[in-house]
Amino acid sequence: MSSIKRALRGEDLPASGITPREVYEGRRTLLRGLAGTGLAAWAGRSMLGEAVAATPAGGGLAKLVGQPSPLSVLDKPTPYKDASSYNNFYEFGTDKADPARNAGKFRASPWTLSIEGECRKPFKLDLDALRTLAPLEERIYRLRCVEGWSMVIPWVGYSLSELLKRAEPTGNAKYVEFTSVEQRDTQPYLGSRVIDWPYTEGLRLDEAMHPLAMAVLGMYGEVLPNQNGAPLRIAVPWKYGFKSAKSVVRIRFTETEPKTSWNRIAPNEYGFYSNVNPTVDHPRWSQATERRLPEDGFFAPKRKTLMFNGYDQVAGLYAGMDLRKFY
Ligand code: MTE
Repeated sequence: MSSIKRALRGEDLPASGITPREVYEGRRTLLRGLAGTGLAAWAGRSMLGEAVAATPAGGGLAKLVGQPSPLSVLDKPTPYKDASSYNNFYEFGTDKADPARNAGKFRASPWTLSIEGECRKPFKLDLDALRTLAPLEERIYRLRCVEGWSMVIPWVGYSLSELLKRAEPTGNAKYVEFTSVEQRDTQPYLGSRVIDWPYTEGLRLDEAMHPLAMAVLGMYGEVLPNQNGAPLRIAVPWKYGFKSAKSVVRIRFTETEPKTSWNRIAPNEYGFYSNVNPTVDHPRWSQATERRLPEDGFFAPKRKTLMFNGYDQVAGLYAGMDLRKFY
């Protein structure tokens, strides 16, 4: 049996490889105590390992193991129940509770991802191949939605570049387009006109190749629940949430900027870049502050939104660009 199959069955968990949901909460209590001592970052890493050995994971989904990543932030992760019940996944409905409610019949397996377009070696991958393509990492990332809420999610996966580089993009490849699945019999809102289906998104090639851009296969030490984009979604933590397409079936290299679903619907509201930027407001929502779910209640003071969602290491990608114009 392959190691990935054993891991999916919860066997052979490396001591430092998985962080059960309950452990995220306990770990944060200690880290808050160490805040400012310079020990917090160290403790954050080593505790992941210690806690894992002591506490078995206890969720309903198959386990998916990832090694702790230095790209993780130290913010307190959002409880699993909030991350998996307050979602935007319009194929299942437009209410935040709809995806968890309506995604039960979705088939996340079997799955085929196709990588095509301006590349020398287009290829297709099944789920097993996707999960064994590169070492799985657990990365705790911030997620900021343009609607003004944010979460912190421990994703499991690897850099998107791992997938892209194997296709050997040609010199003509300037952008990458992502297409989400259309599963007519399980996604009730594909019959609606709320979006021009299928859901598509895009990145410039250098954005997609940035190590932070992630191909995500799991969260909280388990495979992705359907409502969060099973079995494969993208996570681009310095951009608003809608840039991260869920349940992706096709990745295509293009020479010209691909059309994206939200940009097509309302180009003045949703630009192609959509970097988290507290100085450029959406016409209907201020981007200056945000409400971290779930602890920042409606009456709690909001927290300040950070440029690039705090991921300063991507600033160089936009050197010389007017981010008011390229919003
Ligand atoms: N992908 C698809 N296919 N369909 C969608 O409706 N919504 C986007 C993005 N990816 C969406 C999608 C939006 S608006 C957000 S904020 C994030 O998914 C939400 O991800 P989450 O539910 O895991 O927090």
